Amino acid sequence: MELRGVKRALRRLVLGKKLGAYVEGLAPGGALAAVASTEPGGGFRVDATEPVFSPDERRLVDGFADLYYRRWQQGGHTITLSWLGYQTLKCPLDLWIYQELITELRPDWIVECGTRFGGSALYLACLCELLGHGQVVTIDTDQSLQPIRPVHPRIRYLAGSSTDPSIVARVTALVADRPASASGQTLVILDSAHDRDHVLAELRAYSPLVPPGGYLVVEDSNVNGHPTNPGHGPGPWEAIDAFLAETDRFAPDRTRERFLLTMNPRGYLRRKT
Ligand SMILES: C[S@@+](CC[C@H](N)C(=O)[O-])C[C@H]1O[C@@H](n2cnc3c(N)ncnc32)[C@H](O)[C@@H]1O
Repeated sequence: MELRGVKRALRRLVLGKKLGAYVEGLAPGGALAAVASTEPGGGFRVDATEPVFSPDERRLVDGFADLYYRRWQQGGHTITLSWLGYQTLKCPLDLWIYQELITELRPDWIVECGTRFGGSALYLACLCELLGHGQVVTIDTDQSLQPIRPVHPRIRYLAGSSTDPSIVARVTALVADRPASASGQTLVILDSAHDRDHVLAELRAYSPLVPPGGYLVVEDSNVNGHPTNPGHGPGPWEAIDAFLAETDRFAPDRTRERFLLTMNPRGYLRRKT
């Protein structure tokens, strides 16, 4: 066999092994069939470290983060995103981190405080759908937007304040109801009112739902000068400070800030014990 033929044969062998699971699912016509027996998602994990900056780099990174957010405040659409035609307010880099977290943790439940148009809830539900696991419960006081929020079998909407004890009790009961294939994980995302006392109350109410190894994400910790929107007043960043002063069960996982730009600095809180 000439060299080119050997190379082709080797490539077929390697590809055949990689695609083994799919090959079993080949439909009679040769098209790839859905392979129900194959676990969706692969095993690759990014071995990231916390970004370290020189003073000049810090200024550059903070300056860009400030510009990115200010441009949105001035009417630019830096954090106004469309997910499948539904609006969400996020930095796409943070959405990518969510994708990695959800793939790693396979949460049975994702609790989102702050629904708005429902674009972020739909994004999270789509990831669950792709992985074949997980449901989203999302809470908002504003029900005027409900008629235009997305309908999805993996999304449940709750009307009310995230800190109302009856809402907390309903979410707690939902999360306790886990599927037979439960991972035991819950991901909590706080993206409702961004004032310090409200976020601190949410942290206290929802942190017990997160098991060791799980995450509680405090969004928009970048405001009040961290490094943007200095006039905001005490917000999520200050709530994180207060929360970490009263518990050592959680710590910011700054490896989740490896893209250098995030709306949630120190906001990816990982439960240690
Ligand atoms: C930043 S938006 C949420 C954005 C959404 N998560 C997204 O990324 O598309 C904040 C939402 O929190 C809601 N909100 C404000 N105070 C709240 C509270 N106490 N409880 C629940 N939701 C609240 C507002 O009505 C608003 O829809």
